[in-house]
Amino acid sequence: MELSKAIENRRSIRKYKDLPVTEEQVREILTAASLAPSWTNSQPSRYYVAMGDARDAVAAMLPQFNQNNVINAPVLIVPTVVRGTSGYGKDGVARTHLDDGFLHFDNGLRVENICLKALDMGLGSLIMGLYDEKAIREYFEIPDTQEIVCVLSIGYPDIQPDARPRLSVDEIAVFKK
Ligand SMILES: Cc1cc2nc3c(=O)[nH]c(=O)nc-3n(C[C@H](O)[C@H](O)[C@H](O)COP(=O)(O)O)c2cc1C
Repeated sequence: MELSKAIENRRSIRKYKDLPVTEEQVREILTAASLAPSWTNSQPSRYYVAMGDARDAVAAMLPQFNQNNVINAPVLIVPTVVRGTSGYGKDGVARTHLDDGFLHFDNGLRVENICLKALDMGLGSLIMGLYDEKAIREYFEIPDTQEIVCVLSIGYPDIQPDARPRLSVDEIAVFKK
């Protein structure tokens, strides 16, 4: 798919067909994620992938409205970031005023790659910022050195939502010449 079309057509998908997605497909998506840029190529993101029974277990760790959003989505991905990497020097000291902000910045670049790559493969995705952090950490045994960022659903879309309104460029940008 042409890149501009993918950017324009991506939507948050909250209704999925009851169709499987393979581990190979997920690996392809995560490879696309890994190609995003990061601070000193620090590559701070890690991924915990729930499929099959694990998918059902992780879905149960979402609030009810998000559980409803991911019915039939066969894959849930939990991206984390390794603390003290992006935005930090080798001495472990934050290099900018953003402190650990670049961790989430870098992870966001990867998540957008995931959403666009999924779209290119005929799949849909939803980013979910609300979940039971403690339960997910315990389930995957995620160490304290990593911070959980969100939960992503991946599956075949059963809906093509209309575009949600966006602020105009005039509302979000300042040009100075
Ligand atoms: C950080 C973040 C957290 C989000 N959390 C949720 C969520 O918990 N549940 C949900 O249904 N959508 C969630 N969304 C999706 C947004 O509502 C959606 O991206 C926005 O309304 C724009 O719609 P679009 O993605 O279809 O363009 C989240 C998006 C982001 C970027």
